[in-house]
Amino acid sequence: MELRPVSSRDLDFLIEMTLLAAFPPGSLPDAAPDLPHAKRWFDDWGRPADRGVVAWHDGRRLGAAWCRLQERVLVRDPAGQPVPELAIAVVPDHRAGGVGTRLLAELVRTAARADYSALSLTVNAANPAVRLYERSGFDLVRRDGDRLTMVKWLMGDSAPPSPEASLAPLRPRRWPVQSG
Ligand SMILES: CC(C)(COP(=O)(O)OP(=O)(O)OC[C@H]1O[C@@H](n2cnc3c(N)ncnc32)[C@H](O)[C@@H]1OP(=O)(O)O)[C@@H](O)C(=O)NCCC(=O)NCCS
Repeated sequence: MELRPVSSRDLDFLIEMTLLAAFPPGSLPDAAPDLPHAKRWFDDWGRPADRGVVAWHDGRRLGAAWCRLQERVLVRDPAGQPVPELAIAVVPDHRAGGVGTRLLAELVRTAARADYSALSLTVNAANPAVRLYERSGFDLVRRDGDRLTMVKWLMGDSAPPSPEASLAPLRPRRWPVQSG
């Protein structure tokens, strides 16, 4: 398996991966790719902060991990800058073989090279992907019912101390955390 950056030729695949990542299995609504919840992941792909990685083997794409700045900011870093949000999916017949782990690690490296302060994500608490994120160094920073927000800081072990570090009280390294 090899990894390469997402290119404009991968747009259809990003849409396919978005449908896997943004909707629970078996619950795809009609015209799902046209819903804002989906479109926010690929619309106008190629903006300056967009970064992504595709895994492929034998000419077939196996999965993708990508990040972008979203209009609705999920997390801000201690300097008040919006943190890019990521999505990840692997085609069903190649899961549990390490593809997701490698994609996520490469996206983290790509984001660090781009000098991003952090990567953020949301995930349903019941999604087994939570374990992948924890294993990859993402910390739980917020819990709204079943919806978890996780962040991986890229500036060292933790976010730098700052009086504006609005996330600091929400940044325990272990569950359980505050609801809200
Ligand atoms: C989450 C996902 C990208 C992981 O990719 P993967 O190639 O299966 O991941 P890996 O093989 O590297 O690692 C497997 C880990 O992912 C977790 N996982 C998530 N969904 C899984 C699945 N359907 N099958 C197996 N493992 C899964 C497991 O907990 C496992 O962690 P562990 O090794 O600590 O037990 C992939 O399962 C997927 O595409 N899921 C559907 C889309 C999705 O939910 N995306 C995340 C939205 S927040």
